[in-house]
Amino acid sequence: MTEPLHEITLSVNGVARTARAAARRTLSDFLRHDLGLSGTHVGCEHGVCGACTVLLDGEPVRSCLIFAISVAGQRVTTVEGLADGERLSPVQRAFGECHALQCGFCTPGFLTTVTAGLAENPAPNRADAVAMIAGNLCRCTGYHNIVDAVLRAAELGREGS
Ligand code: FES
Ligand code: FES
Repeated sequence: MTEPLHEITLSVNGVARTARAAARRTLSDFLRHDLGLSGTHVGCEHGVCGACTVLLDGEPVRSCLIFAISVAGQRVTTVEGLADGERLSPVQRAFGECHALQCGFCTPGFLTTVTAGLAENPAPNRADAVAMIAGNLCRCTGYHNIVDAVLRAAELGREGS
């Protein structure tokens, strides 16, 4: 039997996007496969690694654990929506400056997580920065440069640059 498809509309990076998907389609698969936004990465697919983190009404969530249909009508920000046109966000620039990535697989999840974390705490100390990224796994970097990047992003954000 063919699974029924539902028309699902979300506000994604400020634009209303609609696609048809099954009720059990995860938000991560909906973004990647139905809307073509492959910047959101999928690692563990069970809520552990944080690679799939997106912002849902500004709050970081694991998009592999959420059905797209359950968040219809809500506001989603993916890694593709962090930059302001060609201008990278402070968090994106800080990750570049501090060499906070190697293979980059985990990076979209870190960028969205840190964006939300700095919105809540714009002046973290090093321990706060470590706590901010505690739910995201990286197999490459050893985390030191990522923590540096969180602190640098906070600086850039406070400078308004
Ligand atoms: Fe969602 Fe790992 S892919 S938490
Ligand atoms: Fe490779 Fe984080 S940079 S997993």
